[in-house]
This record gives sequence, structure tokens and C-alpha cells, in this order.
Amino acid sequence: MSKPPLPITIATFNTGKLREYRSMLSGLNVDLQDLSDFNNVQEIAETAATFAGNAALKASGYAELTRTLTLADDSGLEVAAMGGRPGVLSARYGGAATSFDDKMRLILAEIAENRSADRSARFVCEIAVADERGIILYKSRGVCSGTIALEPRGKGGFGYDPIFLPDGLDQSFGELSPSVKQRISHRAAAFDQIIPYLRDYTAI
Ligand code: IMP
Repeated sequence: MSKPPLPITIATFNTGKLREYRSMLSGLNVDLQDLSDFNNVQEIAETAATFAGNAALKASGYAELTRTLTLADDSGLEVAAMGGRPGVLSARYGGAATSFDDKMRLILAEIAENRSADRSARFVCEIAVADERGIILYKSRGVCSGTIALEPRGKGGFGYDPIFLPDGLDQSFGELSPSVKQRISHRAAAFDQIIPYLRDYTAI
């Protein structure tokens, strides 16, 4: 007899991120939920100084609250000409309520102000998976290197996608098809390392 699908909580309220995880997990025997599927889950503050620290904080915390196997990530954009910022503060750069159009404009303005010829940048993603008791089972890190475009390009994806040109391609993350982004992204790189463990969990 085959096993019932394994419930996994993706610890996010970000629909763009959730869409990417749904697609990456589509080959596994899982029953995917996100935090909006739980009534009384309070948001856990991302108080760690590193992506890895925040991923672990969220995975354990939300696993304890939901009593489910929980996958959490923390990700963001590191811009060389800005000394690696916005980094862990990517979602809050320029203020949490500021739109991404404005956040991107701020980044382009800051690079221009620094008069730096170096437009290199990278997206980083750290993933942590915790069991139902909140104990961390697996961790992984994925990086996607590229450069910051001169202006936003494309309307696809989410967040900073329109200003990020991944190395080796002429299109921004905002112009690429979702399937291409999902093959080369920082999240995919981190997620690929977790798949064998999830396969063990969900094996028929
Ligand atoms: P997190 O939800 O704390 O991981 O926030 C990460 C922030 O980094 C998001 O709000 C986005 O602004 C940015 N970010 C992370 N991954 C991506 C991506 O794939 N494309 C565009 N922006 C991203």
C-alpha cells in the first residue's frame, strides 16, 4: 500500500515564494500547507543576523506552533557596491511598507551615488527543515550570482527580480519564464540539496 501524502508546512506568507515551492515539490508525495492555512499562527520575528540563523529560527518556531514538519527559508539580495546590503534586511529595505518598485529605485540610486562600476550581486537562500517538535533536521544554502541591471526589466517573479540579471543570461529574473528561474535560482540550489531527505521521508 502506498503511504499517505506527508504534510509539510512551508513557513511563509509570501505567495510568490509559495508558488515556487509548490512547483519544486510537485514530484514528491506531500500535502503542502503554508502559514495562512493555520488560524492562530503569530509571525515569528526574523531577529538573527544571518540568513541561516533566521531560517532555523522560523523552521523550529513554526514547527512547534503547527506541530508539522516545517520548511523555512530566509533569503535576500546582497549587492557588492552596497557592502552586501540589503542582505537579511531585503524585505525591510527602505521600510517594510515601501513597495518593491521603490526599493529597486533606492538600490539603483544608491549604486549610482557610490559611483561604483561594480554592479555584481547575488541572491542567497538558506533553508532549514524542522520536525514536528521543532528540532532542526536539515540545513542547506544556495547562491545565484549576477549583476544589477541599469533599470528594472520585466514584470514576472516577485521582489527584486526585475533588477537582477543572473550570470550567463541576458534576461532579468523578471523577464525569464518561471520554469527557467526555478532551475537556476538560489532557492532551487538550496532546495535541491534537501530533496533526497524529503524523498526518504515520503518514500512509498
Ligand atoms: P524573506 O521572506 O525574509 O526570505 O525575505 C526575503 C526578501 O528577499 C523578499 O522579500 C524579497 O524581497 C527578496 N527575495 C528573496 N528571494 C527573492 C527572489 O527570488 N526574487 C526576488 N526577490 C527575492
